[in-house]
Amino acid sequence: MGKVYLVGAGPGAVDLMTLRGARILASADIVFYDALVGNELLSLAPRAIHVPVGKRSGIASTDQRIINRCLVTAARHHQCVVRLKGGDPMVFGRAQEELDALSAAGIDTEVVPGITTALAASAQVKIALTRRGTSRSIIFATPAIGDGEADSDWAAAIKSQSTVALYMGLNQAERLVQSMKFHGVPGNTPVLVMENVSTPDARQMVTTLSELPEANNWRHDGPVMVLIGRVFDRMVQTEAVELLEALPG
Ligand SMILES: C[S@@+](CC[C@H](N)C(=O)[O-])C[C@H]1O[C@@H](n2cnc3c(N)ncnc32)[C@H](O)[C@@H]1O
Repeated sequence: MGKVYLVGAGPGAVDLMTLRGARILASADIVFYDALVGNELLSLAPRAIHVPVGKRSGIASTDQRIINRCLVTAARHHQCVVRLKGGDPMVFGRAQEELDALSAAGIDTEVVPGITTALAASAQVKIALTRRGTSRSIIFATPAIGDGEADSDWAAAIKSQSTVALYMGLNQAERLVQSMKFHGVPGNTPVLVMENVSTPDARQMVTTLSELPEANNWRHDGPVMVLIGRVFDRMVQTEAVELLEALPG
């Protein structure tokens, strides 16, 4: 019986993966990887069979049971099985389902952490998510589909000095803004929308909560993170000044 390693690939840049993760990849026999994991990272596992299991490879996210079964079967045939997940494997990555299925099958596991996108985003824009005097906590959240009430906790947190990092949040921008306003979050709260964090294709847009629905028109192909909080106030101000300076006359 082999061992299954759940390895965090980090946010995208290959050199943001941990040394431990890279070492395990080098000796992997088979790697099951997410859609957001790039070829450069896979090249760290030269002797392994590479199996895509992300949404974009045709397996819907709801087919988690198929992935679980693949991992169990692979561990019965290979010594070193890697499940390579974007960012940190334990953050919105269905790691628990996989660990539970492997444990139920009596298979040994190990988790190797990775840099989660929110922290790489903070580094990229050089804004501390816990800036002293402005934010006292960070919330990693994902919008509850169709349930504004479930957003109330972190809406309250934004009002009382928290920074919220929203995973998988942009496509619900309109509902999100309505829900935030319903819970009393000011419309001028700064919002930072970031695509392809840590990669050469990185792009970002600074806006406010009221204007966030317009971000829906912001064309993007890559993964997008939405960050909300007063720590980004200065970025909104800087952008406003730049816009003014660019005006003719
Ligand atoms: C299923 S979650 C996985 C999160 C991952 N485990 C982590 O710790 O970053 C996928 C979401 O993470 C965010 N994400 C992942 N990589 C990203 C990147 N490089 N740039 C922007 N957002 C990213 C997007 O919101 C995407 O929809």
